[in-house]
Amino acid sequence: MLKKVAATRYITPLREGGSLPGLAEADDFGTYVLKFTGAGQGRKTLVAEVVCGELARRLGLRVPRLVTVALDPVLGLGEPEQQVQDLLRSSGGTNLGMDFLSGALGFDPLAFTVGPEEAGRIVWFDALVNNVDRSWRNPNLLMWHGDLWLIDHGATMIWHHNWPGAEASAGRSYDASDHALARFTPDLAGAAAELAPRVTEELLAEVTAEIPDAWLADEPGFDTPDDLRRAYARPLLARAAVVHERVTGIEEGK
Ligand SMILES: Nc1ncnc2c1ncn2[C@@H]1O[C@H](COP(=O)(O)OP(=O)(O)O)[C@@H](O)[C@H]1O
Ligand SMILES: [Mg+2]
Repeated sequence: MLKKVAATRYITPLREGGSLPGLAEADDFGTYVLKFTGAGQGRKTLVAEVVCGELARRLGLRVPRLVTVALDPVLGLGEPEQQVQDLLRSSGGTNLGMDFLSGALGFDPLAFTVGPEEAGRIVWFDALVNNVDRSWRNPNLLMWHGDLWLIDHGATMIWHHNWPGAEASAGRSYDASDHALARFTPDLAGAAAELAPRVTEELLAEVTAEIPDAWLADEPGFDTPDDLRRAYARPLLARAAVVHERVTGIEEGK
């Protein structure tokens, strides 16, 4: 289970991204990047963050720790900005928090080098979850204490916006030509050999169990949150076995 904390203070919005995540303090004295249920695509973005973040972590990739953050909309009352006030007011209840990596630098493909093994693992993972948000223009990778950390998995698993077409969608190819790590000759075959066997039904059950029920309730076509959890697991399980052959647009390293 993800740790549960309660927000005690909203500090400031983080402006780089589109979804207006904020920085907040919580009752465990932690500082978290807060992603709101009331933002843009709403709770599906948060579900994607949990599924991808917890899957990536179990595959050995670095992802800041995730927590759930209880938010009392009252915290927004003193906010001078209308946009922030609206966001806080519409996000009462369970939101997503992520450990804030203080002092982290945004990854710049021209300033940093990544080895073919690590690049391969990350491109393979992004292809698996169909992440369209790791381009060189917008890498969503942070450098922190000399290591690469993965953030922002809200724009993944496009199939969860249209469940009847999920199976077909999960079979599609992944164009990596714009990927932030495309220039580092990612070793996809090596990554597939190492990671694909680890994406099992058991692992995906463990990962999807981390999604809070509140973000899964009342999805049209599903009777229970657990039915929807299984629907998240199925396309990932099917895709893991074949995805490295579906990656296009990069020169592969060995
Ligand atoms: N865990 C974190 N630690 C430090 N900075 C972060 C963290 N998460 C996000 N940020 C900063 O906030 C920005 C926006 O966050 P992101 O998750 O990419 O949201 P968006 O969906 O708005 O793009 C990032 O580009 C990064 O600069
Ligand atoms: Mg982003």
